[in-house]
Amino acid sequence: MIVLKAEGLGKVYSSIGNVFHKALEDVDLQIEAGEFVGIMGPSGSGKTTLLNLLATIARPTSGRIEINGINPSRLNDEQLALFRRRELGFVFQDFNLINTLSIKDNIVLPLVLDGVDPKVIQQRLQPLAEWLQIEEILGKRIYEVSGGQKQRTAIARAFIHRPSLVLADELTGNLDSKSAKDVMDLLRDLNEYQKATVLMVTHDPFTASYCKRVLFIKDGRLFSEIRRGSNRQAFFQQILDSLSLLGGNFNEIPFARA
Ligand SMILES: Nc1ncnc2c1ncn2[C@@H]1O[C@H](COP(=O)(O)OP(=O)(O)OP(=O)(O)O)[C@@H](O)[C@H]1O
Ligand SMILES: [Mg+2]
Repeated sequence: MIVLKAEGLGKVYSSIGNVFHKALEDVDLQIEAGEFVGIMGPSGSGKTTLLNLLATIARPTSGRIEINGINPSRLNDEQLALFRRRELGFVFQDFNLINTLSIKDNIVLPLVLDGVDPKVIQQRLQPLAEWLQIEEILGKRIYEVSGGQKQRTAIARAFIHRPSLVLADELTGNLDSKSAKDVMDLLRDLNEYQKATVLMVTHDPFTASYCKRVLFIKDGRLFSEIRRGSNRQAFFQQILDSLSLLGGNFNEIPFARA
């Protein structure tokens, strides 16, 4: 089953003085249910732009998107907000959690907004919190927990409503290498055992090596694509090779972590 289909996707930004900037051009993309896909590319190549279009946060200048058979550009603002809340999950580099709420309230917020029965909410929360090893801290507030715990909270929030697609932008960007590895191990398990579909932007080859397929973009266009065999170590090397072909600046490559 195809979860996401993008055809001829393009984005032109116009700024002051009518200077136009083509950030994305003619991108075709298909993602099947249960896939775990990474997007890599040099700074400014259009990764976040692509993710924002797919997240329905920004509108494409050209082309079309279909998520779970629905074209989000056909929805009005209210329908779009609902669509986003039900079909999509988000994980960001800076966590985007609400500081004044508890860990639990942050996670269950989308379900509460949707009027889901509190019993059902509890049934969904419990195993997820256990899996993500945050059940002990559910009552704490965001400012009382570590970066890794924040990101695991954000992952719980992104998955609790069982969305069609989870989108992540540099989710390990603010984590030390141990926390990054823990978060990626958990994300891999959610993908494998819950068959969640994940699309993730990262500049970090170690993080990308968890994906089953990695797309490379350059100057707003798809440049190449690689698929993983069984071995993550070998895939890590393949990613480094692809990045060197791609060019651009990847000076933070953590060789020691593979
Ligand atoms: N809101 C905007 N208005 C104008 N130009 C923008 C806007 N957002 C991004 N751009 C430009 O579009 C291009 C692609 O930006 P984008 O943020 O998608 O890159 P990126 O691949 O995510 O980079 P990074 O790795 O640094 O996060 C860049 O040249 C950027 O300056
Ligand atoms: Mg970006």
